[in-house]
Order: sequence, then structure tokens, then C-alpha cells
Amino acid sequence: EQAEIGLIGLGVMGSNLALNIAEKGNRIAVFNRTPARTGEFYEEAGSLKDNIVPCETIEDFVAAIRPPRPIIIMIKAGAPVDEQMALLEPHLQQNDIMIDAGNANFRDTMRRFDALKDSGLTFIGMGVSGGEEGARHGPSIMVGGTEASWKRVEKVLTSIAAQYHGEPCVAWLGENGAGHFVKTIHNGIEYADMQMIAEIYGILRDGLKMDAAEIAAVFAGWNRGRLNSYLIEITAKVLEAADPIGGRPIVDMILDKAGQKGTGKWSVIEAQNMGVPATAIEAAVAARSISALKDEREAAEKVLGLPAVPPLAVSDKAAFIKDLENALLAAKIGAYAQGFAVMAAASREFGWSLPMPTIAKIWRAGCIIRSQFLDEITTAFTRDPHVANLIVTPAFAAMVRETDGALRRVVSTAVLGGLPVPALAAALGYFDSYRRGRGTANIIQAQRDFFGAHGFDRIDGADSHHGPWGSGLGTGAA
Ligand code: 6PG
Repeated sequence: EQAEIGLIGLGVMGSNLALNIAEKGNRIAVFNRTPARTGEFYEEAGSLKDNIVPCETIEDFVAAIRPPRPIIIMIKAGAPVDEQMALLEPHLQQNDIMIDAGNANFRDTMRRFDALKDSGLTFIGMGVSGGEEGARHGPSIMVGGTEASWKRVEKVLTSIAAQYHGEPCVAWLGENGAGHFVKTIHNGIEYADMQMIAEIYGILRDGLKMDAAEIAAVFAGWNRGRLNSYLIEITAKVLEAADPIGGRPIVDMILDKAGQKGTGKWSVIEAQNMGVPATAIEAAVAARSISALKDEREAAEKVLGLPAVPPLAVSDKAAFIKDLENALLAAKIGAYAQGFAVMAAASREFGWSLPMPTIAKIWRAGCIIRSQFLDEITTAFTRDPHVANLIVTPAFAAMVRETDGALRRVVSTAVLGGLPVPALAAALGYFDSYRRGRGTANIIQAQRDFFGAHGFDRIDGADSHHGPWGSGLGTGAA
């Protein structure tokens, strides 16, 4: 009996995905560059062996799969994917489907999709979220490619995806790069969620001087409320964990330097390319970059010292912690609103028709940003799929009005206390700018016209587009 699907790359993610596929009753052929790993994987597969066809050569591997052959490539993103595709291509036939399941840049995905077109092969760019556990037991899967290629893999992918109250967290989101674009924005939002949690943690640790166990209890409590989500849950668990060496809280032993592999940065670059503000995500990416400058930060602290401010002024600790919870919710709304706005713009830019309610739906379970909150977003976008911004849907407008006061108090308190809250402040700045019908760019337009005769539009619509600036040179201060 031929395999329903193939998979190349038996690293942790690939192995787990393959086991998940086999466990759900799908026969799968597997191949790895180093054949020893294939044998090892097969031996470890236990009772799932019956559904696994381990292959030592690429010829055997391809022959083992039922045409048109869907082949998942789960290897390090970037050049290795191109190399693997080039090795595989000569062995494939008309309509076979190469599926890149890594965290690819969607621009690479578009290029690969186009490059395969003439050969008669097709390409799927597939975003897979949920880490190692997700891959093994149910990830959230974002698919981009032709509809025909999606139809070929729909059954298998649906069988392995996470489920939210019985609804599978997998969907075809559009042609070529749509799946990887949506995965990228998922990660951008993930960066913002993580950074905002880290900022709140900083207020609790450095402002309220709470220890890891006390902070863990706060997050655990929030996880039972409106912030209920995977990231809040694991934050509480992380804060509870003891260091195997020495027994102190492990978080206190971890170096404060964050890594990043690119998806956050790409989200921001693409947002900027399209002129869509994604300030909370930008702040989160920049915060990781600042975190990486550990040596410079330590040197700067020696030169500048910490801000010369009085300790955090908090009279009612319980009320302040409630404010922190609401502030985090408000800021989270800002980050998601921005992420969805970036996707809406990309959908127009790249001609994808990205289905916003479906994206929110398939993020409710399986992925890293999974939460209760995404069910509320699903409802809001289902009611109004083409709304300009999440924050003007009735439900989210009400939530913003209810929680933005807390965000304002928390950001002010943190700023006065000398604690950095760039992502929380970015979300607040976004609300305050976005909701203000009359902004201040009239001054910018006047300046542009003054020094460069760039022209401006008038609020009365009059047909006069330049100001009375004389020569336009000014006298200058220097
Ligand atoms: C997921 C994660 C996963 C991973 C990324 C982000 O959705 O399962 O986003 O893809 O954590 O690699 O990694 P960085 O934080 O290293 O950029």
C-alpha cells in the first residue's frame, strides 16, 4: 500500500509531525539526509511503525508515495530548502506537491511557487505553529498554495491539526505565500504578546519587588480570567520552576538576552512596506534587539545609572495588579488589531483574499498564541469580516473603552518609575492616535510644504495647496 504523504527532515519538528501523521491513521514515507537518523526514528516509532515507510534513498522515498505526491519538507529555513528542493525535483512528476513546513519568509515561498510553475510541480507554503508538542499532538496549520494542491492534502492535515471544540485548526488561506505570510504575522503577534508579558513581569519584579513565586501566582490567577492563554499559562509555570543547579527560581538564573530568527522582523518590515502601523510588534522586535546588547546595557548602566526616580508609587497593590491585568488585555488588543490590519493590507497587496474570521479561528488552539481571546476575535470578524480595524468592532471597542484607562495608568506609573514598557506604551499610543479624528500632521504637512513645496490639502477643500511662506527658506536658527 502506498503512503498518503511523504516527509523529509527528521529533526524534532519533522519527527513529531511524522509521528502525528502516522498516529492519525495516515501512511507516511519518511526520508532524512543522514539515513542513520531514519533508522533510529523508525525504531523509536513503536506501535506507529505500521504506518511508517522508512526510506534510505530519494528514489525509494518518491516511489513509496501515492501520486500526486505531497512531500513535506521540514528543515532549516533558507538556503537548505532550495537545496533540498533542487535534489528532489528531478524525481518528481506532474502535479506532485512540495510542501515547505518551516518558518520561511513568504517572499521565498512566492519565489519557489513561481519557480516550480513551469515544471508542472506545485508548491505549498505551510505555516505550522505549536512548537514540538504541537507538531506531535496537534498544531495550528496555515496553508498557502493552489486550491487543487490543498484538496490533495486536506484530509491528512485535518486529521493532524489541533481542534478547538471539535473544529480543526487548519485552513487553506490563499495562493502562493498566503500561509507563510499569516504564520509570520502569527509570530509577530507572538513577539508582542511575549514582550508585553515581559514588561508586566518587569513592573512586578522591579517596581513592586515581588519574587518569582509571587509573580507566578499573579499570572496563574490571570490565566483563570480573561487573559486565559497558552503564553500566560507557561509564564506562570516558568516562574514556578526551580533551577536544578542551586534550587533558586530558574528565571532568576537565565541571561536576559533574547534570540530571534526573523519572523518578528519580517512582520515589521512588511508592515512598513505597506504603510501599516504595527508599532506594538515593532517595539517587541526592538526590545529583543536591545536585550541582545547586554554588554552595552551594562556599560550604560555604569555611565548613566538607573533613572533617578522615586520608587513606584502604588498605594493599593491589589488594585494596581488588577490594572496590570486590564492593561495587558488592552495592549494585547492593540497588538492583534495591528497584526490583523497588516494581514488585511497584504491580502489586497498580494491578491490573496485572506479570510480574517478563519485565521482567528485556526489560531484558537494548537498555536503558540492560542487563547480564549482569539475566540472573541473570531466572533468579531465573523460579524464584520471587512471592518477597517478590530478595535472599531462593537465588542472590541467596548473592551478598549473598558481597559484603556488601566493601560494609561500602568504606562504612566511605569514611566514615572523609570521602568521600560515600550510595547505597552506603543499600544497605548496607537489607540490614542487612531481614535483621534483631528491629529497633528497638519504641522508636518506645513513643514514639508515650507521646506520642499510638497503641497497640502485643506480641510475646507479649497483649491490652494501651498502656504504663505515667502521664499520658503526661512532664516534658520544657526
Ligand atoms: C510557533 C513558534 C515557532 C518558533 C519560532 C519563533 O508558532 O510554533 O512561533 O515557530 O518559536 O521559531 O522563533 P524566534 O523567537 O526564535 O524568532
